[in-house]
Order: sequence, then C-alpha cells, then structure tokens
Amino acid sequence: MAQVLPSILAADFTRLGDEIRSVETGGARMLHFDVMDGHFVPNLSMGIPVLKSVRRITKLTLDVHLMISNPDAMLQAFLEAGADQLSVHQEVCPHLHRTLRAIQAEGARAGVVLNPSTPVAALEEVLDVMDFVLVMSVNPGFGGQRFIPRSLDKIRKLRDLREQYSLAYQIQVDGGVSQANVADLVQAGCDWLVAGSSVFDSADPGGAFQALQREAELASMARV
Ligand code: DX5
Ligand code: ZN
Repeated sequence: MAQVLPSILAADFTRLGDEIRSVETGGARMLHFDVMDGHFVPNLSMGIPVLKSVRRITKLTLDVHLMISNPDAMLQAFLEAGADQLSVHQEVCPHLHRTLRAIQAEGARAGVVLNPSTPVAALEEVLDVMDFVLVMSVNPGFGGQRFIPRSLDKIRKLRDLREQYSLAYQIQVDGGVSQANVADLVQAGCDWLVAGSSVFDSADPGGAFQALQREAELASMARV
C-alpha cells in the first residue's frame, strides 16, 4: 500500500512537536526530513540538533533526505542522531556503491535521489544495492514548487526495471505532490509520496494527510 510521508520542511517550526503530533494522529507512519547545506542547493534548512529533538518525540520512521555536497562526511552523524533511512543525491556521490553500503552497514535503509535532470540510467549499476530511489519532481531546495510531469516517466521506468530484474527497491517521489497527482503517481509505481505544503499549509495537517493517504490507498487498490 502506498504511503504519504509528511515533509516537515513545510511545518511551523515554532510548533514542530504539535505539527508532528497532528500527522501522527492522522495515521502517518513515516516523516520526511530535508537537510540542505546552502551549497548543493540554494537554501538552508535543518540539521542534526533538530533531528535529535524530533527523534526524542516520535517513533515514526525518520526518512532523512540529504541535499548536501559531501554526504559521506555526515552519514554517521545523521544515523547517530536517529535517521532510520538516509537518501543521498547521485549527483554528489562518486562512490555511490560504497556510500549505500556504508549506510546499510549501520542498519539503516539507503536511498539514492535523482534530480529532475539526472536520468534513471545513472542508477544502472546500483539498482540491486539501493533500498529505495527518490525521484525529485521539482528541483531541490524549496517547498511549494510546481510538479514536473516528466517525473512520471522516470517512475514508470524504475517500476519496469524493478520488475524486469525482480528487485525490491521502493520508489519515492518528492516535490509538488498534491491531491491533483497522487493517483497518477501511485499508478505509475510510487510507493512513498513526500508531501510538504499540501499537508502543512493546511489549518488541519492531520486531516490533509488523511485525505492524501486515502487517495493513495484507493489508487493502490486499483493498481493490483
Ligand atoms: C524540496 C524538498 C521537499 C519539500 C517538498 O527540495 O526535498 O521534501 O519539502 O515540498 P512540497 O511538497 O511543498 O513540494
Ligand atoms: Zn525532500
């Protein structure tokens, strides 16, 4: 069944605990945590101290998306701070195989992220190593951007490759996810849908999460 992951980048940071509780009560199982370094992407967000605080108040799976230039130097710190899974960008990992194995060696799930301009072919040699793949459906760095429709083709390609080689990686999408595209994304093969502004810009994030999750489940049922 496809899962919606609230992205706390869009939450009100002065009330982060309440915001997390709201989506937790709404039934979320995983939270998406965006780390930006002002170098790989033109924005700064949050890092290790915030992750540690979030870890203390929730048992939800913490999915940490590293939008940083040198993820290898920081993997250990994020894992120790409480990440259950870590994703790194293909564009900044010259030793991607080693990076994925280093994450897995610590007992965490390892994902690879593709920018909109990076082709699926760049993953050919690690398809059987990665636990999940994150297709960026906006250029990373900011919430609230418009979904890039071509991402659907990449998701279908990844789904077909998974079937062709009998692999088990999960397919995640991030950026511009809303009621308008959840069904299409799930039909294309998405398992995990990250949603920031379409959850936290609402006066009732728990309710907004539930509406998206319901849509994802309906589309999942139609898929099988
Ligand atoms: C963007 C981040 C996203 C962001 C998505 O670089 O990686 O996770 O929170 O926000 P929305 O859902 O508003 O596009
Ligand atoms: Zn993200």
